[in-house]
Amino acid sequence: MKLLVTGGAGFIGSAFIRMAIAETDWRVVNFDKLTYAGNLENLAPVEGDERYRFVRADICDERAVDAALAEETPDAIVHFAAESHVDRSILSPEPVIQTNFRGTFTLLEAARRRGIGRFLHVSTDEVYGSLEPPLAATEEFPLNPSSPYSASKAGSDLLARSYFVTFRLPVVVTRASNNYGPYQFPEKLIPLMVANALEDRPLPVYGDGMQIRDWLHVEDHCRGILAALGKGRDGEIYNIGGNRALPNSEVVRKVLALTGKPETLIQHVADRPGHDRRYALVSDKLTGETGWRPEMEFETGLADTIEWYRANPGWVARVRSGEYRAYYEQNYGKRTAAG
Ligand code: NAD
Ligand code: TYD
Repeated sequence: MKLLVTGGAGFIGSAFIRMAIAETDWRVVNFDKLTYAGNLENLAPVEGDERYRFVRADICDERAVDAALAEETPDAIVHFAAESHVDRSILSPEPVIQTNFRGTFTLLEAARRRGIGRFLHVSTDEVYGSLEPPLAATEEFPLNPSSPYSASKAGSDLLARSYFVTFRLPVVVTRASNNYGPYQFPEKLIPLMVANALEDRPLPVYGDGMQIRDWLHVEDHCRGILAALGKGRDGEIYNIGGNRALPNSEVVRKVLALTGKPETLIQHVADRPGHDRRYALVSDKLTGETGWRPEMEFETGLADTIEWYRANPGWVARVRSGEYRAYYEQNYGKRTAAG
C-alpha cells in the first residue's frame, strides 16, 4: 500500500506517519508546504527510512499535486494539511480559507482525475459548533461552525463528501475532537500552557475558562484514522472522540499540578470572539464498525506529554522563534487584562 499524506510535517500528520512507518510495511509520501506549523524535526524517526519520502509543496498548487500523484501513484490520500488554529483564523482568515477550502478542492479534483482508491479527509468536531449539554453530536448532526477555521473545515468536509455523492470518489471523512500529545505547536491550549508553566510565565485563560473540550490523545486519533482508512465505508463520516470532556480551567489546573507550579500563574484574559462553549461527540459508529476506541487515559497522556515538553526545550525554542513571537504579541499583547 502507498499513501500520500498531506500536512505530514504538522502535529497529527507527523504522528500518523511515524505510526504508519513503524507499524505497517506501507510506503508514505509526505506532501507538506512547511508553513510555520510544519516541522521536519517531527519526522526525524522516519527520515532515513526508504519507505518514506518528503515533497515540499502546496496543496493549492495543482501542478505540484498532479506531479506527486503521477510519480507516486498512491492507493490512498490521507488529507491533514490545513491552517489549524482558530485564533489565527480570527486574526487572519485568508490563508485559512485558501488552504482549507481551496486546497482541499485542488486535491479532490486531482484525486478524481487519477481515480484514487480512497480519500480520507481529516475533519473536526468544531464543524458541529457549540452544543448545549446534554447534546452530543452523532454524524447526522447539522453543521453549525462559528469561526473562519471551523467554517472552512465544514466547507471542505461537505465538499469532500460531495465528491463521493456526485463523482463516486471513495471519500471517508473523520471528525475528531481536540488532540493533545508531543510535538504539538505551542499555540494550542495544552502545549501553550505546558510551555508557559515550565518557564514560569502566565497561563492566559480566555474568559471564564468554563468552555468544554473533549480531549483525545494524538495516537488514539491516528489509530482511529487507520481504522477508518482500512475498514470505513465509502462516503461515510466517522466521529473520533476522546470521551473525556473537561472545562479549560480544569485542564490548566492539571497542567500546573503536574508541573509543580502555582495557580497564581493563571491569568484570565479577554475572551476569544465567537468562542464555542462546548464540543461533544458520539463515536459509537467508528467503534461499532471497526472496534476502535480511545485507549489513553487523559491524566496519563497529559503527564507523558508534559514529560516530552520538559525533555525537549530545544524543540519548543526553535518552533517558538521568529514568526511565532510576532503572532504571540498580536494575539495576547492587547488582551492581558481580563475582559
Ligand atoms: P498543524 O497546524 O500542526 O499542521 C498542519 C500541517 O499542514 C503543517 O505541517 C503545515 O505545514 C501543513 N500545511 C498547511 N498549509 C498547507 C498547504 N497549503 N499545503 C501543504 N501543506 C500545508 O495541524 P494539526 O493539529 O496536525 O491538524 C491536522 C489536521 O487535523 C487539520 O486538518 C485539522 O483541521 C485536523 N484536526 C485537528 C485537531 C487538533 O486538535 N489539532 C482536531 C481535529 C481535527
Ligand atoms: P485551542 O487549543 O485553540 O483549540 P480549539 O479552539 O480548536 O478548541 O483552544 C482550546 C480551548 O482553550 C478553547 O476553548 C480556547 C481555550 N484557550 C485559552 O483559554 N487560552 C489560550 O491561550 C488558548 C490558546 C486557548
